[in-house]
Amino acid sequence: MGGSEAAAAIAHRIRDRGPITVAEFMSIALYHPEHGYYASRSKRTGRFGDFHTSVDAGPLFGRLLARQFAEMWQVLAAPGGDMPPEPGFDLVEAAAADGQLARDVLDAAADESPAFLDAIRLHLVEASPAARARHRDTLGSHAACLTSSSARLPDAVHGVIYANELLDALPVHAVIGTPSGLAERYVALAPEGHSEAPVFVEQAGPPSNPAIGRHLASLGVTLETGQRAEVNLSALAWLTRACSSLHRGFLVLIDYGYQAGQLYSPAHGTGTLAAVAQHVTLPSGGRATPWLDDPGSRDITSHVDLTSVRHVAEALGCEALGLLDQTYFLMALAGQDADGAPRLPADMKTRQTFKTLVLPGGLGSTMKVMVFGRQVGRPRLTGLTGASRLT
Ligand SMILES: C[S@@+](CC[C@H](N)C(=O)[O-])C[C@H]1O[C@@H](n2cnc3c(N)ncnc32)[C@H](O)[C@@H]1O
Repeated sequence: MGGSEAAAAIAHRIRDRGPITVAEFMSIALYHPEHGYYASRSKRTGRFGDFHTSVDAGPLFGRLLARQFAEMWQVLAAPGGDMPPEPGFDLVEAAAADGQLARDVLDAAADESPAFLDAIRLHLVEASPAARARHRDTLGSHAACLTSSSARLPDAVHGVIYANELLDALPVHAVIGTPSGLAERYVALAPEGHSEAPVFVEQAGPPSNPAIGRHLASLGVTLETGQRAEVNLSALAWLTRACSSLHRGFLVLIDYGYQAGQLYSPAHGTGTLAAVAQHVTLPSGGRATPWLDDPGSRDITSHVDLTSVRHVAEALGCEALGLLDQTYFLMALAGQDADGAPRLPADMKTRQTFKTLVLPGGLGSTMKVMVFGRQVGRPRLTGLTGASRLT
């Protein structure tokens, strides 16, 4: 199911052309069209997958997001200013996986705001062909809302582009500080031993692309000797495309990450590149580079540089409206009853899901919500009205 074939494809590439960048290794391991970790199965998260996202906690995450999106739709639909009201609303989900989050959003819109549901033109953007093939089935009775299901963002979006855990899944360049300056970490083949499967090892060399060093310099980052880090040029390219696609509306990104000052500090001196398999995040002792093992059969991820996300979005004319922990975003969207308790259905399952989504120490503080606007001014957005904290 992808694992050994992806390893063989990587080994073939290295034998052919020499050591490859970690970004290229990740591209094959995760996104090889047939054998990549994401490409070869429609669903990788949840109880039977390798890790849980907020989507897997239950439909509540989509329900709360739907409230925020409905409010954003009202901002765009309202007459006023010099912008004409928008008749339709593009709801664009990137990293849509099998479409479950979109389904949860549309179910909630049907319950809470049918006029919003009627306005939605849904676009699901997903790299995995296996996941894209599931979109219509997952959407069920909402399939008629689906305007496009593609690997590419649509052009000329009037509405919202949102993504949960996209940027952390993009291929990164891995670097290390040396006495003579910045070096890049490449993936090479270990000398052939007894194992039949190829064994991959890290090897340092000069940076493959001057943009890597330029990017760190623009952040004022100089790595200490031996300090490891990652540079996510793919995330910057994705953002550039997303901000250019967004003609008017909002960009909502939810992911784990740190501000650059923290991400590139000696506190994260071994970098944040990790492999996730069967709900265990590696390294947790053992080999320092477990993400080199079994490519194609495990997720590989790194923490997002929140500062650079903001810089790119702002440079392309998007305004940063909020950056906060998921805890505060979702609590504000849930609202409070007279006793200060979240205004949610009273059933145990919903309450439990809410806890999973907001508890600090878990998804609540790990996941950061970034909200940007273009041509919308600074409207009141309920998700940003609570304690706007970033921990
Ligand atoms: C960590 S999963 C998150 C899935 C889902 N958003 C969730 O929260 O459960 C990352 C997803 O991003 C997809 N992906 C990676 N690169 C992409 C890109 N450039 N455009 C759209 N989807 C992409 C992967 O195929 C995978 O389904």
